[in-house]
Amino acid sequence: MTTTDDRIGSAPEPTGPTSPIDYSQRIPNNVNLNDNRRLQRALEGWQPKFLDWWKNLGPELPTKDVYLRTAVAVGRDGWAHFEHVPMEEYRWGIFLAEGNPDREVSFGKHKGEPAWQEVPGEYRADLMRLIVIQGDTEPASVEQQRILANTAPSIYDMRNLFQVNVEEGRHLWAMVYLLHAYFGREGREEAEQLLKRNSGDYDNPRILGAFNEATTDWLQFFMFTYFTDRDGKYQLGTLKESGFDPLARTCEFMLKEEAHHMFVGTTGVQRTVEKTAEVMKANGGKATFEDGVIPLDIIQKYLNFQYSVSMDLFGSEQSTNAGNYYSSGLKGRWQETRRKDDHTLLDDEREMSYVEDGQIKTKTVPMISALNLDLRDEYVADCENGVRRWNQALEDAGVDERLYIPHEGFHRQVGVYSTHKISPEGEVLDDAAWEAREGDWLPTDEDRASVAKLMVPVYELGKFASWIAEPPTGINGQPVEYDYVHLEEDGAPEGASA
Ligand SMILES: [Fe+2]
Ligand SMILES: [Fe+2]
Repeated sequence: MTTTDDRIGSAPEPTGPTSPIDYSQRIPNNVNLNDNRRLQRALEGWQPKFLDWWKNLGPELPTKDVYLRTAVAVGRDGWAHFEHVPMEEYRWGIFLAEGNPDREVSFGKHKGEPAWQEVPGEYRADLMRLIVIQGDTEPASVEQQRILANTAPSIYDMRNLFQVNVEEGRHLWAMVYLLHAYFGREGREEAEQLLKRNSGDYDNPRILGAFNEATTDWLQFFMFTYFTDRDGKYQLGTLKESGFDPLARTCEFMLKEEAHHMFVGTTGVQRTVEKTAEVMKANGGKATFEDGVIPLDIIQKYLNFQYSVSMDLFGSEQSTNAGNYYSSGLKGRWQETRRKDDHTLLDDEREMSYVEDGQIKTKTVPMISALNLDLRDEYVADCENGVRRWNQALEDAGVDERLYIPHEGFHRQVGVYSTHKISPEGEVLDDAAWEAREGDWLPTDEDRASVAKLMVPVYELGKFASWIAEPPTGINGQPVEYDYVHLEEDGAPEGASA
């Protein structure tokens, strides 16, 4: 049953038996933390550090409370509960999807063995690395989005931003739980480091490039939640297949939360495009910043940027590490169990593109060596879906222009294209040709400044900034003009405090 629908942002309905979450604990959980005093104490020691981090690097705009969803049970019914809560009192907790006692490793050389409930000694370092890299992205995005509420186009959008923020905070908890529970002292040290690295920090940056880019404005935020959170979905999808069962179950539940983040991106870009299309229709095909909307070519440039940095997150097309993770049973493929092959891939091959003599060519490579590319292909196909929807909005408005996904080699810093300059259409360019056109394809400082000028906060309930259309419905059945966020009394604009 799939109700985690990107398009309507509905609360996901998990399948299988229900496992209630114990909210009487300082750390809400469904992992019987109460029975493991040592672990409980260790996590309770980490909790104040997390809260400090949230205070210093979480959302900057002071708020009284926010209409947020919290997981109440991991199971078929009552997944989520919505209410107004002060953000710093949000009940971040540890929620694992329901376990299956008969689960087996479904791929690689351990295929058919019972899934591991403890970390296999030989894979300890690799598993910890995978968890740390995933964990590092979660607080990074909160840091990147820290100032956005100051320019929220509506209270509705502000609420969605905060929902994403608290859930990324919870995803950090999910990874820290694994580090504390299964990796001893080293795991605890890594958990500390997850709060010490910071997005964009010169000396101590986040691990992956896209998570050190500033999220400068709401268009970038929407592109981020569309493209970069979607990378997260695919990474979690491969970890959900892991032979290490606690990791698989953690990621399965995170995926359910992730659906809302992509809903924010899909519909955010959609509403931006709708407003631009409306003006284009009225003005004989033209829309400029002076019309109070974001011109379509600027939206395309933002798309090009966020897509290309998100593509880099998949790593090199060919990767020995990815192959090893697969054969060891640590990290599977997207929808591994639904694939119709032998799940070891030792004799399989595939095509991949590369650049030689100024041309893009293809060659045949062992499948096991190209699993990053396998995942990236799934991602690319998924990315196309949103673009089709956005183009539908343009078509509906009778506008001829269309948005498009650039060539996979465009503006890449990682993999076979990283030493080449490729146009969005897929031509290999020399440096001079690239430099002459770069500003047509990627946002310039001037473009970003013009977008920033449109980013005026609109805190009046039910009102929206000029550059973005109203959503068709509110959150959790509430009206669009609902008081989703109560700002701090001081300086709170009219209508925004209850
Ligand atoms: Fe996340
Ligand atoms: Fe996310």
